[in-house]
Amino acid sequence: MKRYRYPAVAASEITPQHVFENRRRFLRQGATFGAALSLAPGMLLSARASAWQQTFADKIQQGVNEKDFAAGESITSVKDATTYNNFYEFGVRKSDPEVYAHKLKTDPWRVSIEGQFENTAEVNFEDILSRYTLEERIYRLRCVEAWSMVIPWVGFPLADLLKHHGLTSRAKYIEFESILDPENLRGQRSSIIEWPYREALRIDEAMHPLTILAVGMYGERMPNQNGAPMRLVVPWKYGFKSIKSVVAIRALEDKPTTSWVAQNPEEYGFYANVNPDVDHPRWSQARERRIGEGGRRETLMFNGYADEVAQLYADMDLQKDY
Ligand code: MTE
Repeated sequence: MKRYRYPAVAASEITPQHVFENRRRFLRQGATFGAALSLAPGMLLSARASAWQQTFADKIQQGVNEKDFAAGESITSVKDATTYNNFYEFGVRKSDPEVYAHKLKTDPWRVSIEGQFENTAEVNFEDILSRYTLEERIYRLRCVEAWSMVIPWVGFPLADLLKHHGLTSRAKYIEFESILDPENLRGQRSSIIEWPYREALRIDEAMHPLTILAVGMYGERMPNQNGAPMRLVVPWKYGFKSIKSVVAIRALEDKPTTSWVAQNPEEYGFYANVNPDVDHPRWSQARERRIGEGGRRETLMFNGYADEVAQLYADMDLQKDY
């Protein structure tokens, strides 16, 4: 795989300087929770996070400097990435997730590993986290309605978790399911999609090193509105594949139906690969608005990751399998 470079703009230029310095100091010295609290706006940390936050910082420090970074582009500001979101469990407006994010209860959080694994399990999220060195990687997340952001996600390859549980050769698809909690998640009281939110990947997509389970962003724990405590990031696909707040990971023999395909198969395909040549029925996908920039830029095939992923689809008609 190609080695990526750091983005053209240093993180210090897009994060307020004092926040950036605090974070670096925090990471370098393994500072106390006090330093972790001097976070960028929108990064919601619970006061109970202390020990966990320390582990998180240590783990990122291990991952940073030895891992590749994606996409040599300017990073979206923390503010934009945490205030302009799609998370229908909180409502359909882009501002809803930030407003209602505190309603998501992430502690305790258990993830159910089901289906074609040698070791199916109900795992505490914190135990999952303790197994892996976290990497900080910068990915583009292209969304459904033609906007994009460049976000430094913190996470680990999904493949690591699948292998850890002994994925069997019968598994052809991986299905993911988000939290179901209509009492706290107001969006789940209306039926825009079938709840819980469900997504899936073909097994080779799931095993690809660009597919990560993200547990944080910008060097910190995942804010609720971005899918705490753990979400998928599949950077060559439209944003709706990157399911948030995952509570179940299922290895299946047959292709499952996802929430968006069930809701409107004419508009949403199973693959959802970013493709400037295939329009959404209601809008062109040839150009995108990069949040934080004026005007529009041309959308790249597979969101710019064609060298890495095009071979997965070599035998397919992407006009048909959109
Ligand atoms: N996951 C859940 N559970 N619910 C959602 O509504 N929205 C998806 C995806 N994951 C969504 C979800 C869509 S449409 C997009 S564009 C991305 O999350 C947005 O991620 P972001 O808010 O971190 O940018």
